[in-house]
Order: sequence, then structure tokens, then C-alpha cells
Amino acid sequence: MKATAKAHTNIALIKYWGKRNDRLILPTNSSLSVTLDRFYTVTTVDFDKERTEDVFYLNGELAPEKETKKVSTYLNKVREFAGVELFASVFSENHVPTAAGFASSASGYAALSAASTKAIGLNLTPRELSQFARIGSGSACRSIYGGYVEWQMGEKNDGSDSYAVPLLDGKEFPIAVLSVMVNASEKKVLSREGMKRTVETSPFYQGWLESAEKELVEMKHALTLRDFTRLGTIAEKNALKMHATTLGADPPFLYWQSGTLQVMDAVENLRSKGLEAYFTIDAGPNVKVLCQPSDVEKITAQLKEVPSVQHIYPCQPGPGVTYLDGVHIADVNNRGDLDG
Ligand code: DP6
Repeated sequence: MKATAKAHTNIALIKYWGKRNDRLILPTNSSLSVTLDRFYTVTTVDFDKERTEDVFYLNGELAPEKETKKVSTYLNKVREFAGVELFASVFSENHVPTAAGFASSASGYAALSAASTKAIGLNLTPRELSQFARIGSGSACRSIYGGYVEWQMGEKNDGSDSYAVPLLDGKEFPIAVLSVMVNASEKKVLSREGMKRTVETSPFYQGWLESAEKELVEMKHALTLRDFTRLGTIAEKNALKMHATTLGADPPFLYWQSGTLQVMDAVENLRSKGLEAYFTIDAGPNVKVLCQPSDVEKITAQLKEVPSVQHIYPCQPGPGVTYLDGVHIADVNNRGDLDG
């Protein structure tokens, strides 16, 4: 009982920031992302009756106990749902520069959910699969689909209406996302812990929820119009608001480092010179710069001059989950309602 799946990371243009249910990973706001072509995880799951416990190999090496425990906890949920009691060998290859602090949980859990549910014999729809990915890591539910994707928060307590919906194929609105790695020290507050602390203690959190809801509607409108200026402007504002909530948390924290600010500054300078670029930042110091595909070279050259910039990875919208045999399990045939 074996299957292999490949899933790509995604970057949120409207961030998911806060949970209403930690166990089922149900969010307090809907979010919207674009799946990226460049970074991905390939995972093989092999359920075997000879095994007496789960084993997890990451990039060819036996993973640390803590990581294996996370995978095992996730597989328990899949086993419980499928009514199967077999243990598994899990082999993951992460093509994400994890050392640079780029998030790999989205591609990691999207690939793990796809490979494990297929290997155990569940025949899930893409929507059901996105729900399975969600219970591993929230942002992973969006990586089931390629292009522009919305995670609809849902309202129900059991999570049955909280899943990802494909909005638009990346080819229909090509943009470039430059993943800018800055010279940074270790991330201090993990996103899971950071969002929890913010929800519980930040007086700015209510403001975040109100604006995120409005900005999601505006972002979907920008996608409908294929309006890059709107897309970038809204994404940048939304990221700033998410990060503002962390300053109000108790104890307060900030993901930005001095290198992050240098890149934010450079992006603003580019704009004042007429080169259109916008930034967005997740729960870490690195920056994603959004620009038009035709400006990638010019903007990359300028950003390379910023002292804190260590590496720039140019990305484009990428595909959803695929199995080893190359079958796309999810495409945009059942697309969501962009202006809905
Ligand atoms: C800032 O999906 O990593 O990147 O659900 O706790 O695993 P968990 O969190 P995760 O959080 C991502 C937060 C974010 C914004 C986003 O991707 O929407």
C-alpha cells in the first residue's frame, strides 16, 4: 500500500492568521494564496503489515524523533479515518530551502496528506484532500491546487465547510514572486505559537479580522480584473496588518529583522523609480517580492545590491498536487466564484 505525491509551497496574498479551533485547524479568517512552481516536497508513504512503528526519512536521513512524532500523529488521523491499523515508512524530499527559513509545512503536509490517503486506499475528492491537508497545517490545504487559491474559513464546528477552492489558473494571470532570502538569525516564534498568542492577547486582532475580510473581497476583484497594481497593493497592506497584530501581542514579538526592513525599503524605492514591486512577508524575516514577469531581471538586479540580501529565488505560479504517475488530482475545473 504505497503512493508518492508531489506538492508545491504557496505564498498567501491574504494571510491566514489565527485559529478558532486548534485541533481541527479551523481559521478565524479566509485566506488567498498563489501556489509557487519552484519549491516543493515529494513524499512516499508505504503502509506495511511487517512494520511495528512509523519511520520517517527526510532528505535521505532518518528524521529527528520530534519530526517523526509529528508525522505519526498525522498518520494516526488518516488511519483512524480509513479504519486501518498499519504502520508506515515515509520518505520525504524537501525541495525548499528550509535552512533559509522558507516555510515547508504547506508543501510538506499537502504531499503527506495526498500520499498517505492514497496509499491507505481512500479515494478522496480534491476538496476532501484539502481538508485532510488542513488538519496537518492550515496553509497546506491551499497547496492542493495550483494557481490562485482561496481557503474558505467555513463556519461549522466540525470543519466540514473549511477547505480550499481553486480560483484562477496561474497562466491566466502570470505574476512573478521573488523569494528574497535575507541574512537572518533563527526564527524565534513559530507561526503556530505566534498566531495563538496574537489571537489571545493582541488588542489589534479584531481590526485584523475586519480588514482581512474586506481585503479578501478586494483581492478577488483584482484577480477578476487581472489588475497587478491592485493585487500587489492589497497584498502588501494585508501583510503589514498581519505583522502589526504581533506588536500588540503580550509578550510582543516581531518577525522582521533589520535585513527584512532593508528589502521593504528597497521595494518602496523601486516603486518610486517607476518599477512596480510589492512585498509580502510570512512568519519569518524573509521577504517575497511580487512583480510583473517582464520586470524580474531588472528588479532582481536592484535587490541584489541590498546588503542584507543573500539569495533571490524567482518563482511563478505553480501546479497543484500530482501523484508520481503525473496525474493532476486537482485542477481548476471546479473553480470557485471569484466575485462571490
Ligand atoms: C503567516 O499554516 O504554518 O504563513 O496551521 O499552525 O500549521 P499552522 O500554521 P501555518 O501558518 C501560516 C501562516 C502564514 C500565513 C499564510 O500562509 O496564510
